Amino acid sequence: MSDAFMLNRRLAAVTGAASGIGRAIATEFIRAGAQVHCLDRDGEAVKAAALELGSAATAHLCDVSDAAAVQSTFAAIQAARGLDILVNNAGVSHIGNVETTSPEDFERLFRVNVQGLYLCTRAVVGGMAERGHGVIINIASVAGTAGLADRFAYSMTKGAVVAMTLSVARDYVQRGIRCNSISPGRVHTPFVDNYLARTYPGREAEMFAKLAATQPVGRMGQPEEVATFARFLASDEAAFMTGTDYPIDGGFLRLHG
Ligand SMILES: NC(=O)c1ccc[n+]([C@@H]2O[C@H](COP(=O)([O-])OP(=O)(O)OC[C@H]3O[C@@H](n4cnc5c(N)ncnc54)[C@H](O)[C@@H]3O)[C@@H](O)[C@H]2O)c1
Repeated sequence: MSDAFMLNRRLAAVTGAASGIGRAIATEFIRAGAQVHCLDRDGEAVKAAALELGSAATAHLCDVSDAAAVQSTFAAIQAARGLDILVNNAGVSHIGNVETTSPEDFERLFRVNVQGLYLCTRAVVGGMAERGHGVIINIASVAGTAGLADRFAYSMTKGAVVAMTLSVARDYVQRGIRCNSISPGRVHTPFVDNYLARTYPGREAEMFAKLAATQPVGRMGQPEEVATFARFLASDEAAFMTGTDYPIDGGFLRLHG
């Protein structure tokens, strides 16, 4: 049997691991042999997820936008042994253009999607550089590089995720750290279901079909399709890959007409 794409003996942390893409990544990393620290601001959900994932998973209640919580959580995680892999996945969305986005919503998105990624990366990158190896994977979005309607604050944060990815990749390329981002198109997770329930009550099925059709392949992605690519990026087979944003979007960004 091939041992390609395995993560045996690797220690990983995944933020936002209680649900959707983060949970699928934690599941896939464990299947590949890794130990995974699952961080989420929803304490009950992350405990339940880790319980289901088994003894290779450890749950941590941690809001990534809270500097003190991030500091103490990563200090505890790394007390015995440094992390090999960090996946910055935790994120929140918002609907609105520049006029309908309040300063409070703008700041809330910035604090989770941008500052959260900065704080978590800052907590691990020094140790990775000292040990001379590490992989950081950031979950961006097609919103970071395409002009999506009514996603002003969200797009701002995901553009920043792509930029931070390049900056970290450049600064640590000679210290053994690889840093890449993944930009999913629409992926069917609670993120999408909650948005539909909130925004189109009673019309969820109709709007789901409409959202699915915006991907040229005619459907939304599955969280597992992002997770298998994250596993590849985290593995030694991707040793030559750093400083790039990889869309997984059913053709959304580049196929037209
Ligand atoms: N689903 C999509 O269509 C889609 C598309 C592109 C990008 N993304 C990105 O993928 C990532 C995951 O999205 P998802 O669809 O799996 O969402 P989801 O809502 O299903 O899961 C997100 C998880 O992150 C957690 N979280 C939110 N804020 C947090 C915080 N401050 N600290 C710690 N945990 C926090 C939530 O509790 C939840 O468990 C996000 O960054 C999102 O922007 C999603």
